[in-house]
Amino acid sequence: MTRKRIAVLTGAGVSAESGLSTYRDNGGLWDNYDPMEVASAEGWAHNPGLVLDFYNMQREHLRSVQPNEAHRLIAQLEERFTVDVITQNVDNLHERAGSTHVVHLHGEATKVRPENCYNDNDGFSERQVFDVGYDAVHLGDKAPNGVQLRPHIVFFGEAVPKMEQAIELVSQADIVLIVGTSLQVYPAAGLYRYASPGAPIYIIDPADVPLWDKRIVHIRKVATEGMKDFVQML
Ligand code: APR
Repeated sequence: MTRKRIAVLTGAGVSAESGLSTYRDNGGLWDNYDPMEVASAEGWAHNPGLVLDFYNMQREHLRSVQPNEAHRLIAQLEERFTVDVITQNVDNLHERAGSTHVVHLHGEATKVRPENCYNDNDGFSERQVFDVGYDAVHLGDKAPNGVQLRPHIVFFGEAVPKMEQAIELVSQADIVLIVGTSLQVYPAAGLYRYASPGAPIYIIDPADVPLWDKRIVHIRKVATEGMKDFVQML
């Protein structure tokens, strides 16, 4: 008997209870930083040092936080299901909680690549992506090809090369679970719409979310509590 497939679409809310800021909640990252300055292609061109500092700060903070019960319950789904985690998050908490198949749509904070290696629809050769762990990267730090290192992040204004893969995974899922995303940034926000007609869709979020169609079940709780309810529903 083949295992059922679950696609788990996560955003910053799944890491909130680990102590990582979300982007758009009160006090979120975009309340304190202008995303166009620290997380866009233009920002990188204009002031790469500021962008490097922003991600150095995120990487340093990641060193001191731990996965929470929501990450762990998502990882434990793998005992019963084939689980594809498709996250907008750039943190490594899903992996550290034990999830073995994680697709990072917006890149990964612990990774860097030469700035001339473009994040276009052709993607980029993974051999040019380096994991620096939680260490800082500065102007003048270069890849082996002699080019300045940049964050391995999908900046605003850049293509999302893993979108096709993500669409495929969602369309194959028997169950779709959305956890902790305001669904405001496309194309990631439109991903759940590729769910097959027969697949139930659940969303875990303490806030009011626009229920786009009647089949969506809204578990209106924080991720650690909502995941306990979700597991009971399976
Ligand atoms: N548990 C579950 N959900 C939570 C929790 C929690 N403890 N705390 C907050 N949330 C919810 C909020 O209600 C909101 O719906 O998480 C969501 C966070 O939304 P955003 O801050 O917009 O984060 P996200 O949706 O991941 O942003 C998407 O925007 O800036 C870009 O690239 C960045 O990947 C990011 C993308």
